[in-house]
Amino acid sequence: MSDADRFQPLVAAALKAREAAYAPYSGFKVGAALLAEDGRVFTGCNVENAAYSPTICAERNAVAKAVEAGARRFSAVVVATATSPPATPCGVCRQVLREFAEDLDVICVNPEGERRAFRLAALLPEGFSGADLRRLAR
Ligand code: THU
Repeated sequence: MSDADRFQPLVAAALKAREAAYAPYSGFKVGAALLAEDGRVFTGCNVENAAYSPTICAERNAVAKAVEAGARRFSAVVVATATSPPATPCGVCRQVLREFAEDLDVICVNPEGERRAFRLAALLPEGFSGADLRRLAR
């Protein structure tokens, strides 16, 4: 199966999640769909706040829902925005994804059908992880 076919259900889920975004301040709606290694899909949208900094991104909402449901191993995430080209995950979300996946497919899409594919390891090179906490030199 081609990557385009393989990711199609995930792309549809991310685009649908984007429609639920609460983004009254930025107007920038984001949806995410995270594929767990056991085949389950977890979605999320961004939820903004009048105080701005409590805003949570779509990707992190999807991760939180997955972890609550017992999923901690992921193979792909689709991020849906309305930009052209489709936007990539912010740095905070890259770090949060890295917590649960050394590497994974990151597919960025928009409603017009544009698609950009990355690997998390390329978006977050030399990323910090729990392994670093166990490498104290003293
Ligand atoms: N946003 C996400 O949901 N994911 C990202 O990776 C980038 C940014 C949201 C946060 C905020 O609600 C809006 O997009 C503008 O930054």
